[in-house]
Amino acid sequence: MCGIVGYIGDREATPILVEGLKTLEYRGYDSAGVAIYNDKIDLVKTKGRLKDLVKTLGDSNMKGTMGIGHTRWATHGEPSYLNAHPHMNSDVDIALVHNGIIENYIELREELIEKGYKFVSETDTETIVHLITESEKTTDTFLDAILAAASRIDGSYALGVISHKNPDEIIAVRKESPLVIGIGEGENFIASDIPALLKHTRNVYFLEDNEIAILRKESVKLLDMDKNEVKKEIFRVTWDMDAAEKAGFNHFMLKEIHEQPRVMRDVLAQRIDETSTEIKLDQLKIDKELLKRVNKVYLVACGTASYAAEVGKELLQKVARIPAVMETASEFRYKDPIIDENTLMIVVSQSGETADTLAALRMAKKSGAYVIAAVNVVGSTMAREADDVLYLCAGPEIAVASTKAYSAQLVAMYLISIKIGRLLGKINDTEFIELRDALLKLPTQIEKILAREEEIKMLAYKHLDMKNIFYIGRGLDYAASLEGALKIKEIAYLHAESYPAGELKHGPIALIENGSVLMGILGQEYLMEKTISNIKEVKARGAEVIAIALEGNEKVKKIADDVIYVPATHWMLTTLLVNIPQQLFAYYIACGLGHDVDKPRNLAKSVTVE
Ligand code: F6R
Repeated sequence: MCGIVGYIGDREATPILVEGLKTLEYRGYDSAGVAIYNDKIDLVKTKGRLKDLVKTLGDSNMKGTMGIGHTRWATHGEPSYLNAHPHMNSDVDIALVHNGIIENYIELREELIEKGYKFVSETDTETIVHLITESEKTTDTFLDAILAAASRIDGSYALGVISHKNPDEIIAVRKESPLVIGIGEGENFIASDIPALLKHTRNVYFLEDNEIAILRKESVKLLDMDKNEVKKEIFRVTWDMDAAEKAGFNHFMLKEIHEQPRVMRDVLAQRIDETSTEIKLDQLKIDKELLKRVNKVYLVACGTASYAAEVGKELLQKVARIPAVMETASEFRYKDPIIDENTLMIVVSQSGETADTLAALRMAKKSGAYVIAAVNVVGSTMAREADDVLYLCAGPEIAVASTKAYSAQLVAMYLISIKIGRLLGKINDTEFIELRDALLKLPTQIEKILAREEEIKMLAYKHLDMKNIFYIGRGLDYAASLEGALKIKEIAYLHAESYPAGELKHGPIALIENGSVLMGILGQEYLMEKTISNIKEVKARGAEVIAIALEGNEKVKKIADDVIYVPATHWMLTTLLVNIPQQLFAYYIACGLGHDVDKPRNLAKSVTVE
């Protein structure tokens, strides 16, 4: 949800800001801009993608060694030149970039208009820049003016602010929106995410809520809102920029799909010893004592992550025999959920910053629950605020549509439920060994599916003219079908709906007619006959059926028009394998339709607003 960057040092700021923004474009890409200080503040911004900004900058010859930049995902006001960031005050001496949402901006805007301030945009952000200008009238320093403005704002923000009257500093403030400070030599940086910094430094501070960073060329000072100095450890980033490059693939999404065997190998090597009867999750502090008091587990997440959580829910119930529910984070927090010290919450998230999931985590912690975060981004807010963290270790995921992080989330769900099942004595040694060996085979099995890419591509091309597609499955296959349908919606812009297979005849089957396309997921052997009956029902009504089934399932061949086979595995793990063809199918449909796969319309990778 919007990317922000800032630079102060001796080098030309514009190319550094633009390079940084390029790595953050996944966060939003409907408009972009930069403001550079050089005796006065110069501003260049534009509607459209970063390449449009680069074109506009081409003629502007902006010079200066301090500046801020922004790539936007519109929340208040359409994508346009005027709504693009940075925003400036009427005196053109303060420029500001913002990620987040100001909830009381209408009241503030009215108050400021009454005082004579002129607004040029429809954004909530512009309110802040005028509020700082107003606060300057009653405060001594620029920092005080920013603090006074911040104290009036309800909502979430990561801010980067520069002022003509305060030419040696970038001031950054954070509340509920991510912000990382990059520490260089004779230069310092701010950014919404680490990739924007990696070309310049690996040393970072993660700003916490209600913290301020004052960046000068030679120093970074961290303060709380009362201006007390905050001391924190420098975090050293260990992963490489290569992980954030396309490496010869046409899209990040395809690269990330192909990275899955390696990701699985790395993750499993860290967690499983092929001769041991225990999972190595040393960093997880949950133990038998804690589990004794747990009487309910909430798994909370959004979107794709919530489908992984759905799998986690089923496994915890089936394998560990603990009552578990999956809740969509945006709904959970308004349901008045019953949470106490006997509740275990597992939040699942790639970014670790999703606003609704984070709010659920905070709500649970406030009520005494124990929270485990299964997150990908190291040092993210969820990772820092949860009681326990299980890192997904999928590496940076750049494509907006999640693929490898989803697979890693599934593995996290497998590992957590096996660990809890073992601690509670619900999985015996023989069952564990069976599961362990099946897990270790996953990387090779994924490779086997990826080797069928051409076949899946052809199948996708055969269906480029479909107007909609139904996905069905039962049990864990239903969870997988939710993810299959979401991928089609996100990147192919086609209406795709997923139903528990048995639900079709309670209404949706009325939509089936000659030529309707249905994807049937048949990973769960014990439910296979039932789903096949449901497939027969839609076949009889003219639907064209694609099935994803386990190798050896000959029955489905006689009913479906096309079958994509995946290797057979333990029933707990099929969800991961049946999803790989779904990813490729959605990818090639989207490519065939000519869509921008990595940056689908209206979406952003990290949803840090409600
Ligand atoms: C879809 C997708 C989203 C995210 C959701 C939660 O491909 O990526 O549905 O899963 O926005 O994001 P995280 O996992 O960062 O909390």
